[in-house]
Amino acid sequence: MTSEELIKETYRAFPQDFLWGGATAANQLEGAYDEDGKGLSVSDVYTFDNQLPKSEWTKQWLGMTHEQVNEAQKKDSTAFYPKRLGNDFYHHYQEDIKLFSEMGFKCFRMSIAWTRIFPNGDELEPNEAGLEFYDRVFDELLKYGIEPIVSLSHYEMPLYLVTEYGGWTNRKVVDFFVRFAKTVFERYQSKVKYWMTFNEINSVKHHPYVSVGVIEEGCEDLDQKRFQGAHHQFVASALATKYCHEIIPESQVGCMISYQLLLPNTCNPEDVQATVEAQRTSLFFSDVQARGYYPAYTARMFKEKGVVLKTEPRDAQILRENPVDYVSFSYYMSSTISAHPEQLTHAEGNLITGGISNPYLKSSEWGWQIDPISLRIALNQLYDRYQKPLFIAENGLGAIDELTTEKTVNDDYRIDYLQAHIQQMKEAIYDGVDLFGYTMWGCIDIVSASTSQMSKRYGFIYVDQNDDGSGSKQRYKKKSFDWYRDVIATNGDNL
Ligand code: BG6
Repeated sequence: MTSEELIKETYRAFPQDFLWGGATAANQLEGAYDEDGKGLSVSDVYTFDNQLPKSEWTKQWLGMTHEQVNEAQKKDSTAFYPKRLGNDFYHHYQEDIKLFSEMGFKCFRMSIAWTRIFPNGDELEPNEAGLEFYDRVFDELLKYGIEPIVSLSHYEMPLYLVTEYGGWTNRKVVDFFVRFAKTVFERYQSKVKYWMTFNEINSVKHHPYVSVGVIEEGCEDLDQKRFQGAHHQFVASALATKYCHEIIPESQVGCMISYQLLLPNTCNPEDVQATVEAQRTSLFFSDVQARGYYPAYTARMFKEKGVVLKTEPRDAQILRENPVDYVSFSYYMSSTISAHPEQLTHAEGNLITGGISNPYLKSSEWGWQIDPISLRIALNQLYDRYQKPLFIAENGLGAIDELTTEKTVNDDYRIDYLQAHIQQMKEAIYDGVDLFGYTMWGCIDIVSASTSQMSKRYGFIYVDQNDDGSGSKQRYKKKSFDWYRDVIATNGDNL
């Protein structure tokens, strides 16, 4: 073989079958939280109160309390729970999917609410009404030639599994999840080819309640519970991958991590080493799922955190035999890392993920630092590391949008953000990265995960709904709607 034959041709262009689309999650989108037999999920517990200062809005996201969970279970609770309303996709899905098709979506990323199928999580038989809802949604998508890309778990475990079983720290939850996964694979085998197991599986680091069902308040062995829960998710994910391949032979199953690229705060090697270690706290999760085994650095990491995993003898084999087919991730921002943040005068970073602000970058109104070039770096890093196809499951800009009297939003700031990121994706493809799809986060306005605001909007489609849930729920096209339609129509040539 000649060297020319060994080196594949490369182009600064998207592959012809590139999956352009948008992404959502059931708990932020659907509403109808108690219709047709649905049970309460961990996300149905988050409240919103705009009388509180803004700094308080992410507080529950970062630390759930027992009182909050107890209150949410009361039928007569007077608190306001925005994720129970979503944007009411449950009753608007036909209209919404039609709008996606007008933009030319090739795919739509969504999740199946576990609590619609198994309301408490431990039932033996699924809820038929819940299954029928997703039949209708998939049929509607397929009618327009839109490929569904389905997450099995996007911050949506049944609340009952938290209160009665202790969440993912309990091994029994693996069996419950596998039953749920097999049920939906069997039901939708002719409709869904692309699956993701756990959304942002590495987020257990920042918000263990919504990720593995561990209530942070009063929890003394949080690291132990975090990693035990994560281990059970790894096993559950590998088993789901196995059954998915058996039930749907042409299926593709991916892992999904939140990937915030970390840059050293200075060129001091101490900062560089601190950055390597900090980045590994995310990569650890894709390492296990993409390679099928715990990486070498696990032993030291667990030793230093005092973590001792309880495993079963067959776990190593389950992981090794069932790695994922592709690696997907969310990308919103980068951040910097210092070995000695206490010595810095301005060490404030992102409220959720920490880190230190980068003076070279601008931030969104929520302090998320906008860095398109680091998306290219992330794509190259992940592809070099795994040599598996990549999928960008989330990317986008949360902003305050103003609806004009013409019933549109002139969201040039969103177009600028997306344009710059898609440009860097193109560069990464030219670099040789195998990127097969991109789903812009919150393609229609939905409730924010971290703040529970409706007014932190990402969509191409504006939903007339306020933070307190009031509003007509009418859908309006923003300026970015036409822009994205053109991007898709030209397969990324016109940006
Ligand atoms: C990701 C989550 O972390 O970020 C989504 O997977 C979330 O669920 C998205 O909505 C944007 O975050 P936020 O807090 O702005 O909604």
